[in-house]
Amino acid sequence: MPRAIISPSVLASDFGQLTAECTRMIKGGAEWLHMDVMDGHFVPNITMGAPVLACVSKGVPGIFMDCHMMVAQPEKWVNDIADAGGSLYCFHLEATSDPLALIAQIHARNMKAGVAISPDTPSTAISDPLGNAADMLLVMTVYPGRGGQKFLDRCVPKVSDLRKRFPTKDIEVDGGVGPKTIAPCADAGSNVIVAGTAIFGAENPEQVIATLKSTVDA
Ligand code: DX5
Ligand code: ZN
Repeated sequence: MPRAIISPSVLASDFGQLTAECTRMIKGGAEWLHMDVMDGHFVPNITMGAPVLACVSKGVPGIFMDCHMMVAQPEKWVNDIADAGGSLYCFHLEATSDPLALIAQIHARNMKAGVAISPDTPSTAISDPLGNAADMLLVMTVYPGRGGQKFLDRCVPKVSDLRKRFPTKDIEVDGGVGPKTIAPCADAGSNVIVAGTAIFGAENPEQVIATLKSTVDA
């Protein structure tokens, strides 16, 4: 299984201090920063888009931005996110009719490509060619749309299935993940861990990052 990568979700951070919050997480041991882009269509909320990401990549040189695109037309934003310094472009399988073409479009802009599935989408919706073409597979453990929701453990078997079929790929879990829920995710084979509330809400985020990492790498 690939090594543990912790990707704090900045949705739970103070947006008024976004670059400082990202820097604080990197100093605390986070490898990636998880940027939740919501468009008010694929999900009801609106969060941030390419202009904000561009400020973050300028303010935090070398940052790896793990962009979770909760948008209705993911094809539309590839160039803007690439120009803004996005490192990984993760789209929802539910939002596109031609995921392989979209992965090619993302790779053409030198970003890694991720495929996300919402709680009601089975892991079998990710075909072998699709999983092999992607760099990362994201199993949502809450319904996309907002932070601070309860972890849905019924999504965990999808991680096991994907890990079996794609042993070398990055497999990310996102939603309600923290020290209390990391164990089943790690056992199932997830190596990229998103946590918003559990990290930003902690008195000692460094310690939470270290705990998540050591549970995955154990
Ligand atoms: C939900 C987002 C998640 C969320 C995670 O739509 O994709 O990334 O911010 O936040 P927590 O860890 O608080 O559930
Ligand atoms: Zn997310």
